[in-house]
Amino acid sequence: MSQIFDKDLFQNQLSTRWVGRDFEYLTKVDSTNSYLKKFPAKQLKHGRVVIADNQEKGRGQHQKDWLTEPGENLTFTLALKPNRAEGLTLLTLSCALAVAKVLQHYCKKTVLLKWPNDIYVDQKKIGGILTECSFLGPKPEKVLIGIGVNINQEEFNASSVQEAVSLHQITGEKFIREEILANILNRIEQLYQCWVNRDSVVHKEISKSLIGFGDWIRLSVYDEIIEGRFKFLGVNEKGELLVLNEKLELNTYSHEQIRIITGSESISKVR
Ligand code: BTN
Repeated sequence: MSQIFDKDLFQNQLSTRWVGRDFEYLTKVDSTNSYLKKFPAKQLKHGRVVIADNQEKGRGQHQKDWLTEPGENLTFTLALKPNRAEGLTLLTLSCALAVAKVLQHYCKKTVLLKWPNDIYVDQKKIGGILTECSFLGPKPEKVLIGIGVNINQEEFNASSVQEAVSLHQITGEKFIREEILANILNRIEQLYQCWVNRDSVVHKEISKSLIGFGDWIRLSVYDEIIEGRFKFLGVNEKGELLVLNEKLELNTYSHEQIRIITGSESISKVR
């Protein structure tokens, strides 16, 4: 049964200084990202969070839909106003890491990040992030980090979210969404501070959580396989992909369309 989000329960568990302190709960909206996009940056507080129980036009990466059961999951957007543009990819990955670390607490299976900003368990997608930025000259004036996490949904139809899974499907249990959201925002605030301080712990922790870290992988851009195999070394402090080619030369990739192909998929793709 679909649940109404309990704002008081959420606020009692939130221990942040600023993330989520300006909080809005909507029963229904087109998309929390689209909703926040309409606000001029001046009207948005750094750390504002908007959550909706029902997104009628939820959006994913690459113009795909993000449509999930109302009242069962977490669909929210965090507005940030960072004072540098450099490392925004790492900022999105830091939020993905925060989600992964919190989900790991509730689930015995390993929660991993899939480049560029998905959260995976058992080779299935449990969460995803859509980051949208607007700039004033070289400076980001607002960065909207839209996060979808599948919590209590019992099943997904093939047309909703590809290869999707929920925390409930993995564990057989039902979860308190308010508690999970508070824990995610608590983690995001900590990791944001590390990102501001350019603390190397951020890219090191992200790297260790990425699917394929340390493996020989293949890469593709716009679905075209790049020649050769690469040893995947994770991400650097800018959030760029780091790989060694077969001659053991270090290469970096920052292209949004780059994909990492691991395991048996990497073998079938080259045949
Ligand atoms: C993806 O993996 O494709 C990204 C999914 C992002 C979904 C979230 S749900 C909250 C926010 N509002 C949206 O319309 N999309 C993001």
